[in-house]
Amino acid sequence: MIPYQIIEKKSKGQQLSDSEIREFILGYTDGSLPDYQMSALLMAIFIQGMNTEETLALTKVMLESGERMDFSSAPDFVADKHSTGGVGDKVSILLAPILAVLNIHIPMISGRGLGHSGGTLDKLESIPGFNVNLELDKWKELVIQEHVGLIGQTGNICPADKKIYALRDVTATVRSIPLISASIMSKKIAEGIQGLVLDVKTGNGAFMQTPEASRSLANSLVSIGQGYGIKTTALITDMNQPLGSAIGNWFEIEESVRGLQGDGPKDLMDVTYALGAEILRMSNPDLSQAAAIDLQTRTVTDGSAFEKLKKITELQGGDPRVLDNLSNYPKAKYSGVITASKSGYLSQVDTMALGFAGIQLGAGRRKMSDSIDFSSGLYIHARLGDKLEKGDPILSIYSNDEKALEEVLNKGKEYFSIDRSLPEIPPLILERIE
Ligand code: URA
Repeated sequence: MIPYQIIEKKSKGQQLSDSEIREFILGYTDGSLPDYQMSALLMAIFIQGMNTEETLALTKVMLESGERMDFSSAPDFVADKHSTGGVGDKVSILLAPILAVLNIHIPMISGRGLGHSGGTLDKLESIPGFNVNLELDKWKELVIQEHVGLIGQTGNICPADKKIYALRDVTATVRSIPLISASIMSKKIAEGIQGLVLDVKTGNGAFMQTPEASRSLANSLVSIGQGYGIKTTALITDMNQPLGSAIGNWFEIEESVRGLQGDGPKDLMDVTYALGAEILRMSNPDLSQAAAIDLQTRTVTDGSAFEKLKKITELQGGDPRVLDNLSNYPKAKYSGVITASKSGYLSQVDTMALGFAGIQLGAGRRKMSDSIDFSSGLYIHARLGDKLEKGDPILSIYSNDEKALEEVLNKGKEYFSIDRSLPEIPPLILERIE
């Protein structure tokens, strides 16, 4: 294989063969191909796309770059949820303990921040001591005994995705249906699950910004899952504004804890329960939608889901006391507030810009080697359609980087539009794909 020729072939929009895809991906994974050649191929795929055959070949080689888990000895249904990425999307942190309490085994393998969107692993690591790099045996034991274990790709599970994902994050090659499909589905198939629900985001804070593009992505993901014998459904959910109020790693853990304590924002809880209902109904097709929601809300009202989050935190090396004492967490040195420049209805939020503002403040990475400032982030105080008076707070900003804070404060006013008339509010859940 001559990497140059493969890059050129894809850059001209031609179909790559299974063996070309395989050799290139495995070559990059074992270090024989450098970042710059992989980046060039990623950009060519990003621009030219891949057909179904190529996407399946890419998924297969990423899956086979590592081990596949076997949970056939697990007594209960084994399932997972995955999001295509958005801003303020902390659903996994709520849903994993809720479903674990309801006896669903959740072997969750998550990702780090990607492009403008946050990552579950970074959020979990904002809990002091939380280890997302468990030995696979220990993780499997947690998934069987506690019904949940939360890790990232290891050297053993989809190492190809781990390496490529980090490169896509900094080369603007995220927003691609074949790359997202192969990345998500290789990890999910490797988990050895029986059921999967996908939260496919749509809107100006999603990688796929129109319902049509999101539907194509959802269809691609669902058909790969079903092709591997996994019960797979997808919900297309709105990302024209952040989910909940908090953006940034620790802020999102805090909001998740509040959600599990019965005080979560309605949009966040509604999406969480809707996704959870998909899995509960795959596990028990006789369960009605209302009963599936009710079962989940009960794990919140009786405190069992929050106890489960604390237990899993402790078992993964984290300090559960921080979850009981949220206000003791170290605060960012600098803060500021953006207020409404006039009275009217909040009619538009530049959600992607908010995600990038989070990165600028320190809540995400600009390059692969960056570390994250867990205390930085944003709180949005208004939702689309809210009536605002001039001077009402819209966004609170926190950072340990004074200059970045100033920049976001100055630019941030442009992220919001206020109109005299009530805007049309997109539905939270647009569609279900089966
Ligand atoms: N989540 C993933 O795991 N991969 C992507 O490419 C996008 C979201």
